[in-house]
Amino acid sequence: MQRVSSANEEAIDAWNGVLFDRFLQYRDILVTGLGAHSDRALQEVPPRSGDRVLDIGCGFGDTTQQLAGLVGDEGAALGVDAAPRFIELARAEAEQAGVGNVRFEVADVEITELERGFDYAFGRMGTMFFANPVAAHRNVRRALEPGGRLCTVVWRRKLDNEWLYRAEQVVEEFVTEPEESDEPTCGPGPFALADADTTSQILLSAGFTDVALRRCDLPIRIGRDLDQAVELVMALGPAGEVIRLAGEEAERIRPEIEAAVRGVLCEFEGPDGVVSTASSWIVTATAAA
Ligand SMILES: C[S@@+](CC[C@H](N)C(=O)[O-])C[C@H]1O[C@@H](n2cnc3c(N)ncnc32)[C@H](O)[C@@H]1O
Repeated sequence: MQRVSSANEEAIDAWNGVLFDRFLQYRDILVTGLGAHSDRALQEVPPRSGDRVLDIGCGFGDTTQQLAGLVGDEGAALGVDAAPRFIELARAEAEQAGVGNVRFEVADVEITELERGFDYAFGRMGTMFFANPVAAHRNVRRALEPGGRLCTVVWRRKLDNEWLYRAEQVVEEFVTEPEESDEPTCGPGPFALADADTTSQILLSAGFTDVALRRCDLPIRIGRDLDQAVELVMALGPAGEVIRLAGEEAERIRPEIEAAVRGVLCEFEGPDGVVSTASSWIVTATAAA
C-alpha cells in the first residue's frame, strides 16, 4: 500500500475512482486539448537532451512518454501519480509502445520520498490538487538537482475559461454543491493555482527561485459536436462536479440542466465542432541550491 497524506486521501479516492473513469471516457478530447497547452510549454521550456525528468501527476503518462522522447536515450523520464489505476495504464501503454527510458510509480507527491537527482520536473494540470501545495512543491524541489528546472501547466482563472465558467453558472441556477456529500471531491480543485501571486508565493516558500508565469490562451475542442461537448462538461470540470456532488437532486432534473448547458455551449459550435479558448499558466522556476 502506498503512503498517502491523510489530507489527500479523499482526493486520491476520487482520482482513482470516478474521475479516472470519466477521464478515460473523454480521454481523446482531454489529451488533445490539454496537449496543445503542454506542447506550447515544452516548446518554450524544453528539457535538455540527456536530462532526468519527473512528470508530476502524470495521469495516462502521455506527457511522460513525450518527455522521454525529448530527453533521448541518454536521459530518462519518471511519471508519478497518486492514483494506481492511472499508473497501471501508463505502464502498460509505455511497455506496449516499447519506450525504454520511461518508468512510472504510484506516489502522493506531497509526502512520498521521491528519487533524487532530477534535472527537470514537469506537470500538466497535475499540481493543483494537493491539500498542502507548499509541502508538495518542496518535495519536488528536493527531488531536483540544485539549479534544476520546474515547468508546470495549470489552469488560469475560471472566468477566462468561458466554457467551464458559463456551464458552471448555468448549472448552479438549478443545483448547488452540497456541503456534505458521500462522493469524494478532488481536493482544492483545478483552479487552485490560478492566482499568479498565490502560485508564485507557493513556489518561493517551497524553495524555488526565478518564478515566472506566462499566460497561454489556446483554443481547445471540447466536443466533435454539441452532444459530446454537453456530455463532457456535465461529467467533468466545475459544472460536472456540481452535478456529481448534488447527486439525486441533479439527476431528477438532468434533462432541464442539459438543455440549459446546451443553450450556453451552442455559442461555441462551429465547423470544427465545439471550440472555446482555454487559458492556462505556464509556470517556470528553478530549484534553489
Ligand atoms: C487533471 S489530472 C492531469 C493528468 C495528466 N497530467 C494530464 O494532463 O492528462 C490530475 C492528476 O493529478 C493526480 N494527482 C492528484 N493528487 C495527487 C497527489 N497528491 N500526488 C500525485 N498525483 C496526484 C491525479 O491522480 C491525476 O492523474
